[in-house]
Amino acid sequence: MINKNSAMSVKQYIQENKDKFINELLDLLRIPSVSADTKFKAEVLKAADFVKESLITAGADKAEICETAGYPIVYGEKMVDPSAPTVLVYGHYDVQPADPYELWDSPPFEPVIKNTTLHPEGAIFARGSADDKGQFYMHIKAFEAMMKTGGLACNVKFMIEGEEEVGSSNLETFVKENKALLKADAVLISDTHMISLDHPSVTVGLRGLAYMEVEVTGPNKDLHSGTFGGAVANPLNVLCRMIASLQDEQGRITIPGFYDKVEELSAAYREELNKAPFDEEAYRRKLDVVETSGEAGYTTIERTGIRPTLDVNGIWGGYTGEGAKTVLPSKAYAKISMRLVPNQDFSEISDLFEKHFKSLAPASVKVKVKPHHGGHPAVVSTDSKAYRAAEAAIMEVFGKKAIPTREGGSIPITSLFQKELGVDPILMGFGLDTDDIHSPNEHYGVKNYLLGIETIALFFKHLKEQ
Ligand code: BES
Ligand code: MN
Ligand code: MN
Repeated sequence: MINKNSAMSVKQYIQENKDKFINELLDLLRIPSVSADTKFKAEVLKAADFVKESLITAGADKAEICETAGYPIVYGEKMVDPSAPTVLVYGHYDVQPADPYELWDSPPFEPVIKNTTLHPEGAIFARGSADDKGQFYMHIKAFEAMMKTGGLACNVKFMIEGEEEVGSSNLETFVKENKALLKADAVLISDTHMISLDHPSVTVGLRGLAYMEVEVTGPNKDLHSGTFGGAVANPLNVLCRMIASLQDEQGRITIPGFYDKVEELSAAYREELNKAPFDEEAYRRKLDVVETSGEAGYTTIERTGIRPTLDVNGIWGGYTGEGAKTVLPSKAYAKISMRLVPNQDFSEISDLFEKHFKSLAPASVKVKVKPHHGGHPAVVSTDSKAYRAAEAAIMEVFGKKAIPTREGGSIPITSLFQKELGVDPILMGFGLDTDDIHSPNEHYGVKNYLLGIETIALFFKHLKEQ
């Protein structure tokens, strides 16, 4: 029997199934799969099941839940032709915590579609809508669309994990143990931003990450700040001074050796990078800041794309409840992240930080430093069949040449795929930097979602033709 859809194009299929595609994503977004908080454990597992089922429904030959020491990895595949290229799709079904809930205009796990100035055709508001459920689900729908219209040109493998937001600590083992299973000619990841729908882009670089937690101890118990204040070191005061000294007036990081391996890029490359459309004024306005701030001598694009940074992500200690309590705390804490660029090594940088931070401490306090998860930076080649396929697909859908960009976020799997599978992933994301990922009111444009599905399907066609 002739498949009634076989004459239909992928584009038509997407158009006809638009509401279904959106509603399925809303169902996935209703599952609060927060990997950082064990109280959501059952929900994270439910999301894994959802992904598995959706792969089967879309037409996968097999889809399975692969157990790890943490949350499972969902693997699925459809092999159509041994002589055709194989595409490995990576994404993550876990999401960031939605706290603080009171800052959301609508509950984070009850998705709603609203029109905004940037998204006149609607945006889906929910935790995970852009990072990364809305983005990896495009791949499953592109796969379905190709299957239903008789056009799957390449073999496809899916690897959707559940621990990206907590550092992918079990992924390395999985990749190392399953190299044959994961073997692919191209790796495709949609978990990044594009400049805008008018200026499509492909991410060619991501920063790495080193994340540290520090503990500063002063006296062995909390004290009266009148009786003891001024005579005994206050660990919060000391911690603030230590942190302040980590950056100089020029916004440069003062840890000895920190910049030793930083790749200095040529003036020509930097000029090219700065040609990307970027409205500094709009950026400031959106964030309500009078001026941007960072390392002297670099533009905002460079400060987030090609330069390393250091930020305090949280600092606490003493009394933070209502009213005033006069207390000289015994302990002070901070969580400090460093975004890394090629060729910085995250374990080396973690060591440099620890050594330097301890050396800053006066004899009046004790310091502990604990490194958390991290990841290496990555830069991917634009000289590959897969990159050209991405360019061709984007050209066909958006009518413009994709601009290569370097982004500030981290996806540690990128360098792992390079090292273990020998493939430079294609970072073809369709989110915008205004989507508020990790923030309250995260959202993802309906148009981004639908155009993303179309572009992904065309990527397969163009890869086969390369
Ligand atoms: N999708 C993001 C990474 C990202 C965001 C890349 C925006 C490019 C642009 C990913 O889910 C993420 O949040 N990664 C973490 C690191 C991870 C080790 C917890 C990050 O960048 O903080
Ligand atoms: Mn992500
Ligand atoms: Mn994220």
